Amino acid sequence: MKAPELELSRYGDPVLRKTALPVEKFDEELTELADRMIETMRREDGIGLAAPQVGEPLRLIVVDTSHDEAGVHVLVNPEIVSSSAENEADDEGCLSLPGITLAIKRPARVSVKAQNIKGEPYTIENAEGLFARALQHEIDHLNGILLVDHVSSVQRALLRGKLKKITEARHD
Ligand code: NI
Repeated sequence: MKAPELELSRYGDPVLRKTALPVEKFDEELTELADRMIETMRREDGIGLAAPQVGEPLRLIVVDTSHDEAGVHVLVNPEIVSSSAENEADDEGCLSLPGITLAIKRPARVSVKAQNIKGEPYTIENAEGLFARALQHEIDHLNGILLVDHVSSVQRALLRGKLKKITEARHD
């Protein structure tokens, strides 16, 4: 029997603002969570998902900017170890902030140190473009940081109505 689908946490859910906890147990349960996060990401047509977005305050992310089976990265306890001085701005969305797209400036390239689902060292050197952006976005989630934190207070004020709608819709 298939497990019920994971529910997405939306803006306003306190889990999105928590600092996620390091993963210490690399067990069957963790593998299952990662698999189900991949399913959820695909279902929602996303290119990345962080565990807090499915209500689990754990340092686990999945990223797939290639849209093919082999291109999925599952990163446990990921950390950005270096970022380029050069920045790049591009439009970004978030499954937890439906209907919002913002131009966000981030380092163009990053290297990430993490573990794989078995707890083995896993590194990504000099990711760039959309992949670098997705990694930074998902790692932000593990630190309770959302897209709206990257924009000016003026821009954020303009989003107030949309954010209120997302928050209110959560409990419908
Ligand atoms: Ni997001």
